[in-house]
Amino acid sequence: MIYNFDEIVDRRGNRAAKYDERIKKFGTDDVIPLWIADMDFKTAQPIIDACVKKAQEGIWGYTSRPDSYFQAYADWQERRNGWKFDTSLCSWSLGVVPALVAIVRLFTGEHDKIMIQPPVYPEFYDVNELSGRRVLENDLVEKDGKWEIDFEDFEEKAKDPLTKMFILCNPHNPLGRVWTKEELEKMLEICFANGVQVVSDEIHSDLIFHGKRHIPAALAVPGAGDRVITCISGTKTFNLAGLQASATVFPNREMKEIYDQYWFALDIHRNNAFSSVAMEAAFREGEEWLEQVLSYISGNFDFVADYCRQYIPEIHPNIPDATYLIWLDCRELGLDDEELKEFMIKKARLGLNSGDAFTRSLSGFMRLNAACPRKVLEKAMKQLEDAVKQLKMQK
Ligand SMILES: Cc1ncc(COP(=O)(O)O)c(C=O)c1O
Repeated sequence: MIYNFDEIVDRRGNRAAKYDERIKKFGTDDVIPLWIADMDFKTAQPIIDACVKKAQEGIWGYTSRPDSYFQAYADWQERRNGWKFDTSLCSWSLGVVPALVAIVRLFTGEHDKIMIQPPVYPEFYDVNELSGRRVLENDLVEKDGKWEIDFEDFEEKAKDPLTKMFILCNPHNPLGRVWTKEELEKMLEICFANGVQVVSDEIHSDLIFHGKRHIPAALAVPGAGDRVITCISGTKTFNLAGLQASATVFPNREMKEIYDQYWFALDIHRNNAFSSVAMEAAFREGEEWLEQVLSYISGNFDFVADYCRQYIPEIHPNIPDATYLIWLDCRELGLDDEELKEFMIKKARLGLNSGDAFTRSLSGFMRLNAACPRKVLEKAMKQLEDAVKQLKMQK
């Protein structure tokens, strides 16, 4: 079936956080929302059909998880990434973030240090700091427009005896880096040599562009599957975040048992009725939709890149190889972070994520979610162009 991603779905008032939390987030609802990471596209038809069928049953009692559920995840990973994992080492959770919180709390001690690579998904700070852990920042560095790992700094931080964990964003949000085999090998080898537990967040791993290939951390070096904890999900891939479900693949039974006990104690261990059927339909029948949505989003990236080059040369978009999130370098506007936020909201009337949530050492960046119909993006870029022109006139 051919999907129409140009269709504008009016999400206002339908409890979509992206739209209905604009006043809370930006102080106004007069902004085009291009922030939180979900798409403004309807999901794949087989997923909608599975949920409609479930809705029509009219009974949504406690939900069991058949073996076929994790098998669908495993088959998907094997087919797409060549990663064959044992489904008996797989655990369910409400989401990757709750999984990360539990992993940090269970497998590190208070005041231990955990390494992350800013600018990075802000929750990577929160999952650690709100649990009393210390964050070690291995800042990614920009070289000729490409974001790279500072391996010297990485190794130095990994060698700190208090460093117990590294949370890898694979691929990386917001820089859209698809890590190469060499980069993964180097990071993993340094961590293994220093007794640092690697946790790989692979939630964006199906959203890959420009001919790149995702490599699961568990496959990056021989034996990595026996050491790395990996978080995967279909929620970003198929735009199902509101259904709340993800999976964690553990390297051994002991870790899985400790993790499962934690969630049993909280009585949070069942899918809801809809995520149960939706995830399976997604991984079994959603690929056709995924291929089409990736091609559409890639067109959106080209549009933003061309538009900035032609009309807003002061703004430099980092076109990602993964995720649908564009990291905008706005430093040439000469605004500090507070001024930049205000400029985007009040002058450009755009609801973006401000870059300062992703890093504590950089300023002048914003993150733009490009998973929306092209018309919306056209309007957004025109608003941005007009606002930048006005700003330049005032200066
Ligand atoms: C890297 C990364 N991890 C996790 C999440 C959220 O995961 P979940 O909704 O499953 O908690 C996001 C959402 O944007 C993300 O970018």
